[in-house]
Amino acid sequence: PGITVEVAAELDSTNETLLTRARAGDRSACLLVAEHQRQGRGRQGRRWISAPGDSLTFSVGVPYAPRQWAGLSLAVGVAVAEALAPEVQIKWPNDLWCAGRGPAGEGRKLGGILIETVGTAPSTRQAVVGIGLNVRSPDGGPAGWPDPRNRPAGLEELLPGIDAAEVLRRVAPAVVRALHEFEREGFAAFRARFEARDLLRGRTVQTTEPEAPEGVALGVDDEGALLVHTAAGVRTVAVGEVSVRPC
Ligand code: BTN
Repeated sequence: PGITVEVAAELDSTNETLLTRARAGDRSACLLVAEHQRQGRGRQGRRWISAPGDSLTFSVGVPYAPRQWAGLSLAVGVAVAEALAPEVQIKWPNDLWCAGRGPAGEGRKLGGILIETVGTAPSTRQAVVGIGLNVRSPDGGPAGWPDPRNRPAGLEELLPGIDAAEVLRRVAPAVVRALHEFEREGFAAFRARFEARDLLRGRTVQTTEPEAPEGVALGVDDEGALLVHTAAGVRTVAVGEVSVRPC
């Protein structure tokens, strides 16, 4: 099935544009790239800020609502990581990290995935998958980055000379293929591929569960939910955020 690719010079947010169209009943398959977003959104109400050319920002409309959210996000993450470089890892459930580039050899964030949905009835629900990838490491603006250890990485550190257009050429077909594959086969088609790039495995994570507040990440189940070995036993974390202890 075909997909239309649209490039906008400037808009508020590629996710917002596709969500607005979906709310108006548009179910056509579209990949929308923005050279610049005025109001890029991150997860949990955060903003995604980038200067034109410094990151690749695009969204794809998915004309179905997945049963497993973490699974969809991981499937897209796997597709993006595989299209880029062996060092690109996935931090469950939505982040792309670059291994071993921090000041103490730890990873640094390269980009993220934001999935938003429209509609409640199964026949009309739609999802928009938004992806932001740093081509250059963001400098944090005039005030700089508050803590340089948290400064995100840029793909040009892994792939010298790469620009946003080349990142799009590599990543877009991989993401579209992954969305079809996920629709047919679910997360099963991606589980082993995810495990090869699982940043959290073996690391101590904080969960949002009061009676099992921390544990060691063991990997994911068949649906893409995170498995955490806590003092209260193995817990499944399906939604919400985990944070990772620096190690
Ligand atoms: C995150 O790391 O919190 C997710 C960031 C997702 C950013 C992308 S950029 C393209 C799409 N449009 C948006 O407004 N956000 C997503």
